Amino acid sequence: QHCFTKSPDGFLYCEDTKVQDIMEKVEKRPFYLYSKPQITRNVEAYKEALEGLKNSIIGYSIKANNNLKILQHLRKLGCGAVLVSGNELKLALHAGFDPTKGRTIYTVLSPVGLLSPDSVESLTGFTKWELSSTMPKCIFNGNGKILEDLILAAQEGVFVNVDSEFDLENIVTAAKVAGRKVNVLLRINPDVDPQVHPYVATGNKNSKFGIRNEKLQWFLDAVKAHPNELKLVGAHCHLGSTITKVDIFRDAAVLMVNYIDEIRAQGFEVDYLNIGGGLGIDYYHSGAVLPTPRDLIDTVRELVLSRNLNLVIEPGRSLIANTCCLVNRVTGVKTNGTKNFIVIDGSMAELIRPSLYDAYQHIELVSPTPPDAGVSTFDVVGPVCESADFLGKERELPTPAKGTGLVVHDAGAYCMSMASTYNLKMRPPEYWVEEDGSVTRIRHGETFEDHIRFFEGL
Ligand code: LLP
Repeated sequence: QHCFTKSPDGFLYCEDTKVQDIMEKVEKRPFYLYSKPQITRNVEAYKEALEGLKNSIIGYSIKANNNLKILQHLRKLGCGAVLVSGNELKLALHAGFDPTKGRTIYTVLSPVGLLSPDSVESLTGFTKWELSSTMPKCIFNGNGKILEDLILAAQEGVFVNVDSEFDLENIVTAAKVAGRKVNVLLRINPDVDPQVHPYVATGNKNSKFGIRNEKLQWFLDAVKAHPNELKLVGAHCHLGSTITKVDIFRDAAVLMVNYIDEIRAQGFEVDYLNIGGGLGIDYYHSGAVLPTPRDLIDTVRELVLSRNLNLVIEPGRSLIANTCCLVNRVTGVKTNGTKNFIVIDGSMAELIRPSLYDAYQHIELVSPTPPDAGVSTFDVVGPVCESADFLGKERELPTPAKGTGLVVHDAGAYCMSMASTYNLKMRPPEYWVEEDGSVTRIRHGETFEDHIRFFEGL
């Protein structure tokens, strides 16, 4: 079941709500529209996949989408948080993530889906429930973590991934300042090619991330030398993003459990294998069969069980991308040379992935066009003053009238979180459709006044 569907009469729906009706109710500007039930369904898919793997952690990668309401929802569903900056850590704390305490999550097999312990306590009349032991945790990643942020992480008891020699030094300093031992994982760069766009590949040996195996002993000795500051709890890798073959995760996991064997052989009690995020999604809407969370977990399951490890995963895109689209309005249609353009009010400022990675995101109109409108090949572009400003190229679409709604799909991950205010477009508002079909604003749109505020008193 997917949240965005076209009815036979040509209208786009988000769950059971017509997108056109939502457009009429909200401000006349581009906006992000999410399905809250779809977020729940995506988490459920991971939770079901992880059944039987004790103490596994779904560490949601906040960088993919940092909307506070979405974070609170993910926390209630039992996700942990994966962070790459002190501000992301502060936001996770603000959203109620608890970095230290493992919390038992109840899976209630009922029409309402997954519930947190608080709501389970107040619930009566459900048929069956079972306990799973997913533990919300916070994990701090990054190749350039700064001391100030590491100190906060140490104070809060966050797991920290060690990325380099200088990073280890800083973590030791942070532990001393905080007066707390830090649980660390070694981020190993396994040199496995994720077969993705070079900008989102991270696990190749020449990438800036992680530590190479030839240095492993140095790091183990460094941890041994700081028994009061560091406790080694596991190993981490992250190969890249938009990965569509699970064999790639398996290849990495095989290498990783071998490293864990080596690490354990030196007397370290390491329990966590963190295989990062990176699972891709069907951006093309081609119907191609892509690996699911279950395929991903199944491919590493036996390895994890064979070493009695706690599996950590760090999904971003595969949890949130398909829950949202950017809703735009057509400003007009024009032709130059051999090119037809649909000009919309949204742009690379709101959604930069096509411009930055040549990424394909599916585009469609929210309402039917008259039968005589004709279909042409269009570039879908925004109003921003550069030719990198496109949302889609060479798309077959019916010629839309001015004001028609046009959506860019799969905009839940790395779209709003990468939005800018270029050309003073100001970042758009966000809404979600709730379980009961009501539409709620989950973030205000930024305004001109917000921009002026940065200069107050100067
Ligand atoms: N863990 C680590 C250490 C990461 O660096 C990332 C993403 C993730 C987990 C989550 O990966 P995901 O499951 O979302 O693929 N801006 C790019 C994507 C950059 C991904 C950065 N790292 C895009 O729009 O495609």
